[in-house]
Amino acid sequence: MVIGVLGAGTMGAGIAQLAAQNGHKVILVDKQEVQLKKAKDQLASILLKLIDKHKITSEKANEIQSAITYSTELSAFSSCGIIIEAILEQLDVKHSAFEQLEKVVSKECILASNTSSLSIASIGGALQKADRVLGIHFFNPAPLMPLVEVIPAVQTNVSFLEQAVSLMKSWDKTVVVCKDTPGFIVNRVARPFYGEALRIYEEGIADFATIDWAMTEIGGFKMGPFTLMDYIGNDVNYAVTTSIFEAFYYDPRFKPSFTQKRHSEAGFFGRKSGRGYFDYSEGAIIPTPVKDYVLGQQIVDRILAMLINEAYDAIFMQVATAEAVDLAMTKGVNYPKGLIQWSKEIGTKEILSRLEKLFADYGEDRYRPNPLLRKEVLH
Ligand SMILES: NC(=O)c1ccc[n+]([C@@H]2O[C@H](COP(=O)([O-])OP(=O)(O)OC[C@H]3O[C@@H](n4cnc5c(N)ncnc54)[C@H](O)[C@@H]3O)[C@@H](O)[C@H]2O)c1
Repeated sequence: MVIGVLGAGTMGAGIAQLAAQNGHKVILVDKQEVQLKKAKDQLASILLKLIDKHKITSEKANEIQSAITYSTELSAFSSCGIIIEAILEQLDVKHSAFEQLEKVVSKECILASNTSSLSIASIGGALQKADRVLGIHFFNPAPLMPLVEVIPAVQTNVSFLEQAVSLMKSWDKTVVVCKDTPGFIVNRVARPFYGEALRIYEEGIADFATIDWAMTEIGGFKMGPFTLMDYIGNDVNYAVTTSIFEAFYYDPRFKPSFTQKRHSEAGFFGRKSGRGYFDYSEGAIIPTPVKDYVLGQQIVDRILAMLINEAYDAIFMQVATAEAVDLAMTKGVNYPKGLIQWSKEIGTKEILSRLEKLFADYGEDRYRPNPLLRKEVLH
């Protein structure tokens, strides 16, 4: 099958590489010639590194490079069986792209979006034949991250969903199918990792370095929340949180934080701007955490209880199965364990009592325990 990729930025370039590595002919389209050139040059340098590391032969590298056709014209997509769109995250921009795509492809061509935050149903709204719209949500970098969330919209025909799932499996991806709801699985369930860490900081319980130390040293996470937000970019992370908060009709569980807003407003985006929660300039002093294990455990217990509550909510609201939620968090964001499995190891009764205490102490809806978690405890 010929694979079309629309948008040659960070994600599009990675998806095109992945498809070519898996033996497909690929058409990569971007409206900017300069982006196509950048994608082509980047691919050449990635492949050189892979040859150096003996991961691929130079013949295979040539094969991958010659499998990709670069174009600024949508008409280049005419022979594609699927188009994966990875352009600007704006509904009006995506709408006009999907409208135009439909004019050049066959009726059987799947039209997929890599959107992180828009609903697939809303993107499909631009199509005459919307039963072939889907979400195929990759993680960055697409060739390396194992997880793919596949999202059917209410309009999607099940046969297109099955085709997309088998295509992703043939690329060796771990596929989770989930409902077309804000943040899908990963970006929804992971919210408390950032939000509760920020809340703990705002209450003056611990500083950034101490919270990060607790979550890595005691919690076993690969990166602390503040280091991770500095990697993602506070502007990007804040925008995702805000869009999820709005999309959930302002549910207080997803309320964004002033601390992150202020950091974003000040241009403290993180690594890319040289300063975020931490200072990345030459010779900057690295803050020392307070290595208090009692405090550290309290921090981990609180954030983990909130994450687990969110995982139960995703299952309760039929976003995905428990297995899919655990797979998504371990393969999509490298959590040390699946949250449902983790809740069973700690004991669901213990998790529920942590949440009930938070709920009683603060009286905020944010801490309400999920009904499915309560049900688990009763079993
Ligand atoms: N960056 C991530 O970590 C990440 C992860 C998962 C999903 N996503 C989603 O993937 C999509 C792309 O993100 P990105 O980070 O690769 O963006 P990017 O800014 O790196 O690239 C976007 C590309 O789209 C091109 N473009 C914009 N409008 C176009 C149009 N109308 N026609 C053709 N090309 C057009 C731009 O020239 C640019 O090359 C977004 O929907 C984003 O939410 C991003």
